[in-house]
Amino acid sequence: MANFVKIAAKSELPSSGEAREFACGDKMICVANIDGTLTAMDNVCLHRGGPLGQGVVDGGKVICPWHGWEYDAKTGEASHNPAAKVAVYPIKVEDDNVMVEI
Ligand code: FES
Repeated sequence: MANFVKIAAKSELPSSGEAREFACGDKMICVANIDGTLTAMDNVCLHRGGPLGQGVVDGGKVICPWHGWEYDAKTGEASHNPAAKVAVYPIKVEDDNVMVEI
């Protein structure tokens, strides 16, 4: 059964229009702040494994810092090919804890 797991403190969250990567056990998670709405997705780009959480956010998309593949922050779909999709996870903030359901 999936559980919510703490990945960060609220103060560590990216500002609006930014992304950041956080460790969650063995995984890295890309958290993006889309105009105040938080999203969480796998941090590993499907192209060549670039770190999505080090990319920039533009118009609801997270852009891979290595070669520019763009992913919809809410669905995880790559803009050029919706069949290429990274996993997205529910995310919530409770008190000072940022938690994702993995
Ligand atoms: S590794 Fe992400 S676009 Fe190439």
